[in-house]
Order: sequence, then C-alpha cells, then structure tokens
Amino acid sequence: MLKYSVKRFYINNIFRFASTKTAIKNGPGLDHFIGEAQKTKQRQPKIFPSPNETNTYLNPEDFNGNGRTVKFLTYGCQMNVNDMEIVRSVLFQNGYVEGFDEKTADIVLLMTCSIRESAEEKIWRKLNWLKNNSKKCTVGVLGCMAERIREGIIEKSKVVDLVAGPDAYRDLPRLLAATRFGRNAMNVQLSFEETYADIQPVRTDVATNSIMRGCDNMCTYCIVPFTRGKERSRPLESIVEEVKQLSAEGFKQIILLGQNVNSYRDTSQISVSASTSEPSTVAGFKTVYKPKTGGRTFATLLEKVSDIDPEMRIRFTSPHPKDFPLPVISLIKERKNICNQLHLPAQSGDNQVLDAMGRGYTRELYLDLVTQIREIIPNVSLTSDFIAGFCGETREAHQRTLDLIRQVGYYFCFVFPYSMREKTRAHRRLVDDVPEDIKQARANELASVFREVALKHNENLIGTRQLVLIEGVSRRSPDYMVGKADCGVKVIIPNVDTQSTVDNSFSKLQAGDYIAANILSATSQTLAGEPLYRTTLASY
Ligand code: 5AD
Ligand code: SF4
Repeated sequence: MLKYSVKRFYINNIFRFASTKTAIKNGPGLDHFIGEAQKTKQRQPKIFPSPNETNTYLNPEDFNGNGRTVKFLTYGCQMNVNDMEIVRSVLFQNGYVEGFDEKTADIVLLMTCSIRESAEEKIWRKLNWLKNNSKKCTVGVLGCMAERIREGIIEKSKVVDLVAGPDAYRDLPRLLAATRFGRNAMNVQLSFEETYADIQPVRTDVATNSIMRGCDNMCTYCIVPFTRGKERSRPLESIVEEVKQLSAEGFKQIILLGQNVNSYRDTSQISVSASTSEPSTVAGFKTVYKPKTGGRTFATLLEKVSDIDPEMRIRFTSPHPKDFPLPVISLIKERKNICNQLHLPAQSGDNQVLDAMGRGYTRELYLDLVTQIREIIPNVSLTSDFIAGFCGETREAHQRTLDLIRQVGYYFCFVFPYSMREKTRAHRRLVDDVPEDIKQARANELASVFREVALKHNENLIGTRQLVLIEGVSRRSPDYMVGKADCGVKVIIPNVDTQSTVDNSFSKLQAGDYIAANILSATSQTLAGEPLYRTTLASY
C-alpha cells in the first residue's frame, strides 16, 4: 500500500513537472518525491512491521522472552500504573522477567504521559539519559506519548526501538521479537473494543481496575481522546471477577479507574432492562456526544462491586460532573465500604472559560450538584482538578475560580498551568494568550487557596475518631505507619501494640489493618493520630 502510494505520488507529480523542461532539469528528484510521500501522515502505517511481514521470519518461539529482563518505568496517571500492570502480565506470560536496574536490563519500557508539555519533556530527558547511560538495550515507549508522536519518537530520540500505543499491549511480544531481528517496531492502532478484560494485571502497589478506556468528552484542552481513543466499557462480570480475586488475595481497597467513570455502560449483554436505560446525564448538563443509554450503568457496577467484600473499601476516579446520576450518590451514602470521597473536577469557576473548555456545565450547575451531593452526604470529601490560564482567562475569571474553591471547600485540588496540545479543539480554535509566568502565578494562587481551605477541614478533624486503612510504613520513619481515612486524607500513626476488637489480641500495625485512630494534629495535607484499637470496616 505504501509502495503503491509512493509510486502514484511520483507518477502524478512527474507529469506535473514534465510540462516545463527547466522544472525537470532543476526540479526535485525521485528522492524528494519519495520523501514527500513518506512525510504525508495518513500514509504512514500504524503497525510496522505488519504481522504478515513478521510471519515470514518470526516463529512462535521468537515471541518468548526466554528470561530477558525488563525494567518498567511508569509516568503519568493511575491509569498508566494499571496499564503497566497489564504490560507486565502480557510479558511475564511470554517468558520475560522483571529487571531492577535500567542500566543493565535487556529492555527498558517507559509508560508515558502527554497531558502537558512538561510531562513529555520529562520523558525526552529520560530517553536522552538512556541513550548515554544504559547498556545497549532495547528501549520501548508505550502509552499516550507513543500514540501522539508515533515514529517521531524513534527518529528524534535515536535510542527508541519500539513504540506501542495504549491499545497495542497484546502485540508487545511480537514487536519485541521484531526488534531482536534488527527492526524498529511500532503499533499505534487504536481500538473500539480493547479493554484487556481477560488480562489479570500483575499488581505492584494499590489495587486499581480500569473499568473503561478512552474518552468521548472532547474537552477542548485535552489530548486524551486522541491518545486513548473512543470510550469503551469493560464488561461488568470481568470487573466483578477481578475484584473477587483481589479480595481473596487480601486486598482491602480497590480504586475503579476511567477518564469518565460514571458514563460507564456495559452493553455486552443483549437484554437490557428498562430501569437501566435512562441516560446518565443530569438535567441541564450538556455533552458533545449523544447521551448514552442502555446497558448496565456505573451505579449498577458500583453496587455489584460493593457487594463482593464488606471489608474492601471502594474509591473511584474520575467522574465528570455532567454525568453524575443521583443513584450513585445515594449508593455511596448507603454503603459503608464505598468511601465518602468524590473527585469532581471543576477545571474553572468561570462560565466563559467553562464554555470555551467545552465542559457542558456552568458554575451554577456545578454548585447545584455540590449542594445536592451534600444534602445526601453532608460530610462528603470533595476534591477537584483546576487548569490555570486557559485561553482567554481574564483576571476576573481567575478570581471566580479562587472564589469557587473557597465556596466548595475542597479537601484537595490538583492545579495545572494550561499547556496547549496540538490536535485539540483549543489548538485549532483558540489562542493560548495567557503568558506562562501568569499561568504559573495563578496556579500557585489556586494551590495556596485550596491549601487554606483544606487546612480548615483537617483541623476540624482534630479530636475526632477516624477509621484508617493502613497502607504501609511511613517514609519519614520506620516507627510510624501511614494510611488513609475514609475522606482520603493521609494519616500518620505510631506503630505501637494495639488491641483488636475481634479477638482482643495486641499486635503492631500492618498494611491492610483497619485502625480506629484519634486525630491529634493536622496540616493541609496530612493528619497525625494515635491508634485506639484494631477493628473491621463492617463493625466500625
Ligand atoms: N493543560 C493543563 N492541564 C490539563 N489537564 C488536562 N489537559 C490539560 C492541559 N492541556 C488537567 C485537567 C485534567 C487533569 C487530569 O489534567 O485538569 O482533569
Ligand atoms: Fe493519563 Fe491523560 Fe497522561 Fe494519558 S495523557 S497518561 S490518560 S494523564
């Protein structure tokens, strides 16, 4: 196909130029035409070498790593962490093993992020470091940046041999085998179906489950729909099975992940009951796509997951404010094991900016939703994301965002200076007109206001009793353990003998223990407490 296109391009153009002799004499040669044809983006294959080609020189045994070591480096969001667990699973099943040092591993794989320019710069720096410091190993770039820059990464980095986008991880054994035959290899084909539902991730840390992939929201600033493709939900049963397995392995917390978790729709079952066929969008909120109907919703999934193990805490991230059905909120209130914490990214507190971002809601609708949520769950802990200095953001608009943060009183906010990304609607239609230093100054101001309100929340918790799920030893001192309260705030507790309400025994704290703790002090991000007793989530 590529060869045919190059030939056709050459023939078409040679006739054009042949009309004047001078053009032929002084004009571009064959190399130029081939170069031009190859530069044309749509003609570049998304998969090379193709399976047809590798079938001619690879045998099934070549897909096996035969003990080759892989150093896995993960950048970006929790979804990337989960994706790397899927990659581990695919490779370990094919004879590859974990490598612990990037200087000596046979293969280094980087799971990358494209959300902001700075995220990509970090990866370029790492690739440069690998070029100069690692032994001659195979280097692969996976994830969002792979999908965005594609073969440009191989060309520019001079160290990368393999590029694989978020829907191509099953193909890694073949791509890696091709690199051993001296080929560069790439697969950036996005899929409408891939959810890796049948792959059991190899977990290294907190248990997460990507219940859906891709995103259809098309917020004007966001690269994710281009790097992760169309939204698709993982079948409900496969999620339930995986959570059951995690519960059997002793995990005490699961985080359900997706770009937009509460537009989850499992349509894999043919018969859909009437009760699940309403659109998920709350009245007044808008979507750029036709509201989804049919299938089993996020509320159904959440209910089924929370039925599995009364001792397993459930969190999820991120819902989009426009998709917030009240049944989800009622369920959170009703179920002890679904945490009273909601990440509800607002992005801005100004209507003009929200409109330019294509968020589908106004400040007033967002605040109404917060009120509705608080009416049902008064002590809910709300967290959010904000972008500072989006296209056209005025000083007054920024003030309105500061005001929204104060008004809602978030427990935590992620704040990002706006970074324009190619391909996004903002890149095509809007002007990135807020100077970088102002974006940064506004981001700092948003962060300091959220810290002020978060400190107040946390100080209000002093003297209260909180149920803390211990996650591990504190990084600051081996004598302290760290865990999370239901509201999501980190709690530091001294590791002393503590009595259990189950069997009255005394023992030190360990990861997975539920501890009733008395809160003694607070900063804007952390609580410090003393352990009262060890208990269970169901009996607390
Ligand atoms: N620039 C800055 N921040 C961004 N985010 C998404 N795209 C951009 C961008 N182009 C932020 C949003 C989103 C979070 C994951 O990253 O706040 O919720
Ligand atoms: Fe995650 Fe978005 Fe970064 Fe992709 S671009 S890794 S989805 S944060």
